Amino acid sequence: MAKQFDVVVIGAGPGGYVAAIRAAQLGLSVACVDEWRNAAGKPAPGGTCTNTGCIPSKALLQSSENYDQVNHHFAAHGIEVGDVALNLDTLIGRKDTIVRQSNEGILYLFKKNKITFFHGTGALTAKVDFGWSIKVSGSADEDLEARHVIIATGSSARALPGLPFDEKQILSNDGALRMPAVPKKLGIIGAGVIGLEMGSVWRRLGAEVTILEAMPEFLAAVDRDVAKEAQKAFAKQGLAIQTGVKIGEIKATAKTVNVAYTDASGAEQKLSVNQLIVSIGRVPNTQGLGADTVGLKLDERGFVVVNDDCLTSLSNVWAVGDVVRGPMLAHKAEEEGVAVAERIAGQHGHVNFDTIPWVIYTSPEIAWVGKTEQTLKTEGREYKVGSFPFMANGRARALGDTTGFVKILADAKTDEVLGVHIIGPMASELISEAVTIMEFRGAAEDIARICHAHPTLSEAMKEAALGVDKRTRNL
Ligand code: FAD
Ligand code: NAI
Repeated sequence: MAKQFDVVVIGAGPGGYVAAIRAAQLGLSVACVDEWRNAAGKPAPGGTCTNTGCIPSKALLQSSENYDQVNHHFAAHGIEVGDVALNLDTLIGRKDTIVRQSNEGILYLFKKNKITFFHGTGALTAKVDFGWSIKVSGSADEDLEARHVIIATGSSARALPGLPFDEKQILSNDGALRMPAVPKKLGIIGAGVIGLEMGSVWRRLGAEVTILEAMPEFLAAVDRDVAKEAQKAFAKQGLAIQTGVKIGEIKATAKTVNVAYTDASGAEQKLSVNQLIVSIGRVPNTQGLGADTVGLKLDERGFVVVNDDCLTSLSNVWAVGDVVRGPMLAHKAEEEGVAVAERIAGQHGHVNFDTIPWVIYTSPEIAWVGKTEQTLKTEGREYKVGSFPFMANGRARALGDTTGFVKILADAKTDEVLGVHIIGPMASELISEAVTIMEFRGAAEDIARICHAHPTLSEAMKEAALGVDKRTRNL
């Protein structure tokens, strides 16, 4: 006899587990199925984000930043240290502990919210009277039935054709987060978010890092002023980034990976490295989901097709997160998960795609929300700009971290904030003020009139807002 639930969520990443919790909070009976297992073969809910994405990458970014600070910045504070040693096993072990704590936290939340967790692969098998039947194959096989199904199966790293990941020399994000030793030379294909974050980690730990990027422009989707500032800062740190390249043959021998490529000028080049990270985007996870069996519509790139409400081509089957269109971000997945749970419960869940923030956790950090200046120009929209450098911010000077600026774009007539772009210290935290203002369709003047504590980095936001009205002061 199949176990019946109001909602069965397939996938326990940030899209899936958050949807499950919201559905349970709204009084629905909920099961969540997830196949991820840790090195010990135990269930590890949390998806890419918890296991090989957001959380472990930020743990390594913090550890490597601390190492960089001790080696290169403490002396300026009058702190003299002797020989500094790196214990990579401890550094990686700390990251693994943080991941395990997060896995356990999610299992605790499932229990607390009375969500039944099944460890295994979930596949849609048929439409039945109750709703949909789902087969779980894993530690113990189970037959489930659900009135509503939420697909939140996420994404996996895209490999280069003919170059599968072995996670020893050819690494996806997974291998990049657990190298057993710091490579002398590290190559990265793709100067996107993962390439820059992982490149920063291993450069700070001592690797010589070269990043090869196909697009002629660096960080093409980012505001041009920010991208230029970032490129300058990364070059100064020794992160070698080449844009406009065309990757040719890649050959891996026991100790080296040889990459042949054509550079932006058309010249043939060779790069020889110890390890190669391939970070050229991600593909949706739909294999084994039973899409063909039940007629679930996928697009030409394999994403589950959904409408604006995240409803798929099948009745009462929803999909959220990386497996559907839109940015591949944990907070986007979460927002969609909550909105779908609320819709199932008869409420009016909503996701505002115009106010989803982006963050790149390099040093300096990069964060933005809304439109870039180049987009506004293309749209022919009249706008005003205010910007403020961290060099003129007292707190940034005290921190010893003065790279970058805050840039605010506002409508020329109404003063409504259309986009905010930050490069500099704690940009990841500062951006939330911009998101809040934009969510309320606030004006630059609103930010300018709000009292910001002194001395804080957030004053740079206020000064940039004053700058929209040409009233910036020096701090
Ligand atoms: P996932 O997190 O991928 O979870 C899907 C889950 O479903 C997985 O556990 C998978 O095993 C399981 N699953 C798949 N198929 C089945 C099946 N048939 N049956 C059962 N289970 C199944 N985003 C940010 O916002 N901020 C960051 O800082 C950030 N850093 C990142 C760093 C890296 C290195 C990477 C790779 C990604 C990062 N991301 C970040 C992106 C973020 O991880 C994803 O956007 C997010 O995890 C998507 O959530 P999801 O729930 O859609 O899918
Ligand atoms: P990405 O889309 O950010 O970057 C991929 C880069 O590879 C692009 O610049 C692309 O032009 C380049 N590229 C593609 N094919 C190439 C080729 N053949 N040769 C050379 N360059 C090539 O994808 P990435 O870095 O793999 O990350 C995947 C996703 O994970 C991101 O888009 C993001 O949504 C998410 N993520 C988010 C993070 C965050 O929020 N801080 C951190 C890491 C990942």
